[in-house]
Amino acid sequence: MKILISGALGHMGRAVAAQASAQGVDIVAGVDAATGTCDFPCYASFDALPDCSGAVLIDFSRPEALSPLLDYAVRNRLPVVLATTGYSPEQEQEVDRVARQIPVFRSANMSVGVALLKHLCREAAKVLGESFDVEIMEAHHNRKVDAPSGTALLLYDAIKDAYAEPRQAQLGRGGRDCKRQHNEIGIHALRGGTVTGEHEVCFFGPAERIRLCHSAEDRSVFASGALKAAAFLADKTPGRYTMEDLVTSAH
Ligand SMILES: NC(=O)c1ccc[n+]([C@@H]2O[C@H](COP(=O)([O-])OP(=O)(O)OC[C@H]3O[C@@H](n4cnc5c(N)ncnc54)[C@H](O)[C@@H]3O)[C@@H](O)[C@H]2O)c1
Repeated sequence: MKILISGALGHMGRAVAAQASAQGVDIVAGVDAATGTCDFPCYASFDALPDCSGAVLIDFSRPEALSPLLDYAVRNRLPVVLATTGYSPEQEQEVDRVARQIPVFRSANMSVGVALLKHLCREAAKVLGESFDVEIMEAHHNRKVDAPSGTALLLYDAIKDAYAEPRQAQLGRGGRDCKRQHNEIGIHALRGGTVTGEHEVCFFGPAERIRLCHSAEDRSVFASGALKAAAFLADKTPGRYTMEDLVTSAH
């Protein structure tokens, strides 16, 4: 397999490069808005990038990179793994449109453990029912630019539809008049130090509490997930693919 890394000089880009080298995956090039050194040719923009036909593009960068990245991928017919978080609703629609032309794998979390957590949360919401209040907490390193995390939003999406009346996201709480409403799911973001990624979903019942949680101990878990997604995508027809497709294909 050949890959092209967008955000190649960032923390995740470098983790993908390290895993790819360890697995014998060929890194044809990188793209990054910053300057720095790496073991493969790295370009400042998609406009400067030569034709990388036959590669799968893996992106861990910033939402601003999305449009030029998708233009390049469509022009060169490259499958794309999009792992960047913080896209706007309009950008998600742009991804939908492009997925009619090329295969696109999109997940705010590339870990199989989080795919399982999502499944367990949806089942817990169905089993526990309307009387339980749900709150999501997440913690990340102090460099993270978006909040709440894409993973917290992914978990919220999975849970909210389990209820007859979909529950609304409540991002944090503060003030003198913010009593919890029954039809909301609180989402709370902690930031500090070097935390790779922690997510906890609490179901608070009348006299009991269920907590489901996941801790990423090292960012290599996301890098190896992205490489698995790239291998999965390499021979796919155009469409939008998710972790569910990847996990299901493994059985
Ligand atoms: N899906 C997942 O499993 C997962 C896991 C970890 C991180 N992430 C996400 O991946 C993204 C990157 O995380 P990180 O910790 O590596 O951040 P980082 O800041 O270390 O790296 C981002 C890199 O992107 C580069 N960049 C910025 N704008 C660019 C542009 N327009 N074009 C090309 N490159 C550009 C930066 O120069 C930087 O090198 C974030 O959105 C983060 O939330 C996703």
